Amino acid sequence: MSGGVEIPVVVSDIEQATPTVRRFRLTAASGQPLPHFAAGSHVVVMMESGERIIRNAYSLVDRAEDGSSYSIGVLKTRDSRGGSRFMHERVEVGSRLKISMPVNLFPVFAPGRRHLLVAGGIGVTPIYAMADELKRQGADYEIHYAVRDEAHGAFVGELRERHGDRLTLYRSDLSEVLAVREILPGQPFGTHLYVCGPQGMIDAVLEGGREAGWPKEHLHSEHFQAPPSGDPFSARLAKAGITCEVRSDQSLLEALEEAGVDAPFLCRGGACGQCEVAVVDADGELVHNDHYLSEDERSSGRKIMLCVSRLKGRELVLDL
Ligand SMILES: Cc1cc2nc3c(=O)[nH]c(=O)nc-3n(C[C@H](O)[C@H](O)[C@H](O)COP(=O)(O)OP(=O)(O)OC[C@H]3O[C@@H](n4cnc5c(N)ncnc54)[C@H](O)[C@@H]3O)c2cc1C
Ligand code: FES
Repeated sequence: MSGGVEIPVVVSDIEQATPTVRRFRLTAASGQPLPHFAAGSHVVVMMESGERIIRNAYSLVDRAEDGSSYSIGVLKTRDSRGGSRFMHERVEVGSRLKISMPVNLFPVFAPGRRHLLVAGGIGVTPIYAMADELKRQGADYEIHYAVRDEAHGAFVGELRERHGDRLTLYRSDLSEVLAVREILPGQPFGTHLYVCGPQGMIDAVLEGGREAGWPKEHLHSEHFQAPPSGDPFSARLAKAGITCEVRSDQSLLEALEEAGVDAPFLCRGGACGQCEVAVVDADGELVHNDHYLSEDERSSGRKIMLCVSRLKGRELVLDL
């Protein structure tokens, strides 16, 4: 795959962390230690589902001390287009999968004076790894974690055990609200904030930070949610002379892969820029779902990110 090297792994343990989240331990099939990763990294997990190959990004929660395994936490999403359902329903102990090398688009800013880690729901996976890394470094940090209720809060017990009163939990069933206006004031200059969770929460936290006058370089976020499906369209590759159909429930990148095109990617979530392609022509509106292009680049209509964006129209011609 064009995410680079593939690492074969065996699922060595599965824990039902909450009614909807499973933690999978992925052990290197080779018996060799898995690469070290910096907190905030994810891997792309490749799942063979009959004829279809599903590739989803999952943040790395931890690496065993001896390097033999990683763990990931996967939420079973409602109306899944396949990947999280596959992980929950088809993967069992002993299953063989392939993963990419770890990629980090959400790193901890090491020189930061203080670190505010903010998680909502499954957004806790990179935050878990960040908190462990900061603890190891003896850094100053706080964890703010919003959950539906204690039973649906993945890894709450472990976070409490490892980080004690550095963890503040917000339970919706108790009407506890993570109010960004309350946690931002009074933080020393040089504090960095990291947020991962539902889109609405990320937007509110970043907006709160900007309103409070925080420099944008101190506000870090990662988005998990894949964009909604859209209408089908055709993608014509001008150089390769190939045309493929993009179904409503698949990304442009997936349609190209299905047609045998080895397109580059790293995050498959519209954040890294790796899958950017020049648009030669489009007979409709480009639906940009990425977090990478600037407003000017989007409105120019000359670039598209294959992993998340699509066309609302009939035919898109790409410089590929
Ligand atoms: C960097 C990163 C880290 C992540 N870490 C975690 C984690 O730790 N735990 C976790 O549970 N989830 C994580 N996710 C989300 C995860 O990758 C999946 O999106 C999630 O599991 C849901 O996948 P799904 O296949 O079940 O369903 P859906 O969300 O329904 O679909 C995802 C699929 O939609 C496709 N798609 C993308 N854009 C379009 C489009 N415009 N039109 C149609 N289809 C499209 C994608 O190719 C993907 O296969 C992460 C995502 C990213 C980007
Ligand atoms: S693969 Fe990262 S933006 Fe598309």
